[in-house]
Parts: sequence; C-alpha cells; structure tokens
Amino acid sequence: MTWTARVLTLVPEMFPGPLGHSLIGRALEEGRWRLEVRNIRDVATDRHRTVDDTPAGGGPGMVMRADIAGAALDAAGADLPVVYLSPRGRPFDQERARALAAGPGVTLLCGRFEGVDERVLEARAVEEVSLGDFVMTGGEIAAMALIDATVRLIGGVLGNADSTVEESFAGGLLEFPHYTRPTEWEGLRIPEVLLSGHHGRIADWRRSQAERLTRERRPDLWRAHLAQAGRGDPDGEAELSDAHTTAATGGHEKDAGDEPDR
Ligand SMILES: C[S@@+](CC[C@H](N)C(=O)[O-])C[C@H]1O[C@@H](n2cnc3c(N)ncnc32)[C@H](O)[C@@H]1O
Repeated sequence: MTWTARVLTLVPEMFPGPLGHSLIGRALEEGRWRLEVRNIRDVATDRHRTVDDTPAGGGPGMVMRADIAGAALDAAGADLPVVYLSPRGRPFDQERARALAAGPGVTLLCGRFEGVDERVLEARAVEEVSLGDFVMTGGEIAAMALIDATVRLIGGVLGNADSTVEESFAGGLLEFPHYTRPTEWEGLRIPEVLLSGHHGRIADWRRSQAERLTRERRPDLWRAHLAQAGRGDPDGEAELSDAHTTAATGGHEKDAGDEPDR
C-alpha cells in the first residue's frame, strides 16, 4: 500500500502547495506517496455549512464543532493513525517522523479558529502533535511540515538514502558543518582536514564538530546523548570525542598563517 497523507482542512486550496515541488513533489507525481485532501466543510449539513460556534463558557474566537470534526474523521476512515496539529501537542521530532514513515500513512486534522472541541479528540483517541512553541493561524502549514519531514524518509523518495543517516538528529546529535568550493572565500578557508583525503581524520573531525554544536546549542539533546552513551552528565559539560583540538577551532579557519588541523 502506498504511504498516504490524508489531510482534513477548511482550506483545501492550500494543498499541495510546497508539497507539489522539488523532491517531494516529484515523488508525489511518481506515486511514491499519496496526498488526499478533504474539505471539512463538506460534512456540514446546514444551509450555511457552518463548522464552528462560540466557545462554551465564553471568551474570544470560535471553536470547531465536535459533530463536524467527528463526522469529518469518520468519513476519512479508520485505516490510518490520526494526528491533530496543535500547539498543545507533543513536539514533533525526527523519531516521530521515522515512526510515521514506517507505517501506512497518517490522517491529519488541521485546526482553525481557537481549535477543535475537546470531546472529539478524546472520543476518537486523536494524538496531538505540535510543530513548536508558537501559535499559527491554522494547522495546514504544520501538516505540510510534518508530511515533508516524513515523506523524505520513505524508501526511494530521496535519491541518496545515506543523507538521512548522517543528518541532524539521526544519531542524537546535530549535524557537522558542511563546506564546498571555492576552497577560499572572503579569506575563509575550508578546514584543512576536509581537504586531506584522510577518511578517518575527516570522520573524527565531523564527529567532534557534531558534538560541539550539540553541546553548545542544544543542551537537552546533549544530555540525552550522554545518557544514552552511559555518561550521565546533568550539567551537559562532558565531552565525548577524542578529537577536541579540531573542534575547538570552530567550523572554519582564517587563511593567513593558520595551522592546518593535525
Ligand atoms: C490559532 S491556533 C489555536 C491555538 C489554540 N487556541 C491554543 O492556544 O492552543 C489554530 C490552529 O492552528 C494550528 N496550530 C497553531 N499553532 C500550531 C503549532 N505550533 N503546531 C501545530 N499546529 C498549530 C492548530 O491546528 C490550531 O487548532
């Protein structure tokens, strides 16, 4: 069965949008994944096709009605896990993307207004997933981000599957810095080790850079990484790699007189 993203939205015209372009769009055209977009308003039965109402208990905005969201989910079928994009949800991450990519697909409920009546989330055992600690006007852009991150992990979608093995989060670390030609740009040279052709030293340097960046930028990931490596370190101060001398120089070197990495 082809991996399927089934999107329930009040703004179906937003799709495929960015999902119709580049690698993901080509994979869609080639039938490596399917996109089904359903207008939630199609299940509304009254003359005005109403989908929302004022919040019980008062307050600003409108709430998507439980009978509407429930009917839209029921019409979508029960063959796929259901995710409601919501700032209250568990933060989406690479691990969740991998788990979803390994399954048959996902049904994504996109909220608008103040969100969806809570009863439908409970009654249909809907998982809430957040894109981050900020509030957008609707769930569509979050749904697109989730789909993009997930579909690229499906076999055959990316030309080079190796690129998902070494990238950020794959081993619990942020990715090392990349460089390409020209060798020198505005007086900044590519770190010599990367030009050495010595695969072992290059791998060591990349590893130490990944550790340095993770330690500096994401202490939460660094602590989890240390814990997994059996090196508990509540302050995140510990270092793992032996290749620190190169890590300490940062990502690049000024040209004049700089010592090459040893
Ligand atoms: C204006 S928001 C509702 C925010 C809600 N009243 C709250 O404070 O949690 C409207 C819709 O946008 C989507 N949305 C907004 N921010 C999001 C985020 N960070 N992650 C995922 N979905 C989000 C959700 O589907 C939500 O129902």
